[in-house]
Amino acid sequence: MTSRIIPVKPFDYVVFGATGDLTYKKLIPALYHRFADGQFDEQSKIIGIARSNWNDEQFRSFVRKSINEFIDKSLIDKDIVNRFISLFFYIANDINSDKGWAELGEQLRDEENIIRAFYLAVPPSIFAPICDNIAKWNYWHSDARVVVEKPLGHDLQSSKEINDAIERTFCEDQIYRIDHYLGKETVQNLLALRFANILFEPIWNSAHIDHVQISVCETIGAGTRGYYDGTGALRDMVQNHILQLLCLVAMEPPASDRANSLRDEKLKVLHSLAPISGENVEKLTVRGQYGGVSAEGVSVKSYQEELEKSKKGSHTETFVALKLALKNWRWSGVPFYLRTGKRMAKRMSEIVIQFREIPHSIFSHAKGAPIPNMLVIRLQPDEGVKLFMMIKDPGPGGMRLKQVHLNLSFADAFNERTPNAYERLLLDVIRGNQTLFMRRDELEAAWTWIDPIMEEWQQTDRPPQKYNAGTWGPTNSIALIERDGRTWHEESDF
Ligand code: BG6
Repeated sequence: MTSRIIPVKPFDYVVFGATGDLTYKKLIPALYHRFADGQFDEQSKIIGIARSNWNDEQFRSFVRKSINEFIDKSLIDKDIVNRFISLFFYIANDINSDKGWAELGEQLRDEENIIRAFYLAVPPSIFAPICDNIAKWNYWHSDARVVVEKPLGHDLQSSKEINDAIERTFCEDQIYRIDHYLGKETVQNLLALRFANILFEPIWNSAHIDHVQISVCETIGAGTRGYYDGTGALRDMVQNHILQLLCLVAMEPPASDRANSLRDEKLKVLHSLAPISGENVEKLTVRGQYGGVSAEGVSVKSYQEELEKSKKGSHTETFVALKLALKNWRWSGVPFYLRTGKRMAKRMSEIVIQFREIPHSIFSHAKGAPIPNMLVIRLQPDEGVKLFMMIKDPGPGGMRLKQVHLNLSFADAFNERTPNAYERLLLDVIRGNQTLFMRRDELEAAWTWIDPIMEEWQQTDRPPQKYNAGTWGPTNSIALIERDGRTWHEESDF
């Protein structure tokens, strides 16, 4: 493992929102792993900034707590933890006043070889004052970077406003817009699968593919997350993560793995999305909201029950399914079915490439008809790839056809801890590699496609269809695909 670690330059990582959930649950554990693996050392600094009147010691205990909670015990080494914790400093700041800004200047180092990155783990409503202050206090320089997370807007207009505010200080190649799905190993593997093998590319088109499914199913609920209500599954999951997955599946081979080469191709996919608007919204989309269940001693609250009183009756969707088309040469006539939801039967994210039937079967006397090939790319859990194909069932008894699968399970093939998405992304910022981050035009193209769907839903203001927690979503989502003579892939044991 160590031999594959490429150390990065020393850095000053400034984290706004340092006492929040994202820092606690994701950023600290990710940085710990990278430090423990030797990717950076004591020459780097992590400067936490937030409103609470903490000091360095209090912040360091928070860091220690995060490590104890989120790092596997077997990977906690006392000496490494102590060295790691010594990199953390804290500044109490108020973005609406001068409090804390001069102290930040004392912490930042002006040496040329030290990379400066600002991570805004705060709501987008305060991106503008933070960026403005960075400029005002002269903490910006041409090699500094800023990292931002969703929600980058709730529609095209608000997303433009957020980006305009950031761009008053930083230019596009300094802005790292995180979509953590792109940092997942299995998502990056999609690129390897498609473009490091000769096998798939010649048949990766409408002549050979019948349809594509992308499912991101979760078992967790959403009603207790303040942000979720009024946001819903379409904005929370489809606008970013799922459209990014779609881009990787559908894009043309980029000329290289350079950031803009890849992002140009993803953008073309987003531009070829057939618009869904007006009455098509009813035909091509399904919204759902989970109801509670109470059976065999297990009781799960409905979304409505989880909501605070003032939000009861909300029409926010916790599930969405869509059928979409790409208007381009490669994918003409190939439907893409997407679905995502909370409180579903199983936690499972996968991409299914369903190939067409063979043009002519020579097996008129065989038992069992040839079943079309299918490639299932499992993103999580049980990461791996399965290729379903036909063989002759061995032994006597004439020609009997049987479906089997070639199975590449990552856990079996690579007996290693899979790094989480933030480990890769946080250090890509330091490396200056924007490949796995969204460019502004991608973000806006995604919102341009999403907005008419949201508008139609708002206009008709129908409640989402109920589905029971622990199921595969509302019945209309099953009808959406079965109307076309197809079914969602739900193989229980991947
Ligand atoms: C986040 C969404 O971006 O992704 C959450 O806001 C969702 O609602 C999460 O649960 C899913 O991420 P993962 O990595 O657990 O699949």
